[in-house]
Amino acid sequence: EMMKELAGLNEMEMKIQKRFQLQQVVVVPGNSDESSWVKKELGRACSSSIKKHLVGKNIIAVTGGTTMAAVAEMLTPEISQKSENLFVPARGGIGNDVENQANTICAKMADQTNSQHRVFHIPDQVSQQGYKAFINEPSIREVLQLISSANIVIHGIGEAMAMAKRRNTSQSECDKLIQNKAVAEAFGYYFNENGEVVHKLSTIGFQLEDLMKTKDVFAVAGGFSKGKAIQAYLKRAPNSTILITDEAAAKGILKEI
Ligand code: BG6
Repeated sequence: EMMKELAGLNEMEMKIQKRFQLQQVVVVPGNSDESSWVKKELGRACSSSIKKHLVGKNIIAVTGGTTMAAVAEMLTPEISQKSENLFVPARGGIGNDVENQANTICAKMADQTNSQHRVFHIPDQVSQQGYKAFINEPSIREVLQLISSANIVIHGIGEAMAMAKRRNTSQSECDKLIQNKAVAEAFGYYFNENGEVVHKLSTIGFQLEDLMKTKDVFAVAGGFSKGKAIQAYLKRAPNSTILITDEAAAKGILKEI
């Protein structure tokens, strides 16, 4: 705590919380672009914050990504001492990167905390036809039902173009993102610098409407490179958001545009 005060981190936390009207903000020292231990610290900070929010029965929806993987690493069985938790993937998978998929992260979170989890056996992006077929599958319906009744969500935030690249987005769709000045991405939605949705993947699973009615939303993202993306996303984020970020991103978040 003393270190945090010296670095002015508490002040940054307060400023961000006020400016974007968030439930809570935690800023850890450093820049996770540069050192992997800072990403671990984001995971640790998220883990200890979650612990304080878990009572009774919870359905926790989680997204994928390397930051979420760091959160999973840091969760401990202590979390489920006073609560009964079910982890569900917020969405399908992204490409072939199995390690950082929501399904994998979910299983890991359940494992680390002696909790239950569900698997979502569908691709992240589906065609209209596929969509109709999928949502009539009983096993998929069950998971979808759980996802939309989640009382807690843990998600990452990415830079728009970095996420488009990771998703092997077509050139024409990339052009559309550039044209619409997309800067941020979260759970399949792309946002411009004013926090307006400029593009959305046709995905099954967690939707922006679901986020608005979720009791506690943990948004975990850090690194100098993400400052602008996080700032844009926060303009749209619900007041239930608990932001876990790092010092380098926090500076970007507080920059005037
Ligand atoms: C995922 C989200 O959790 O994290 C994406 O679904 C987000 O929307 C991504 O962009 C960020 O990934 P990373 O690897 O930078 O943590």
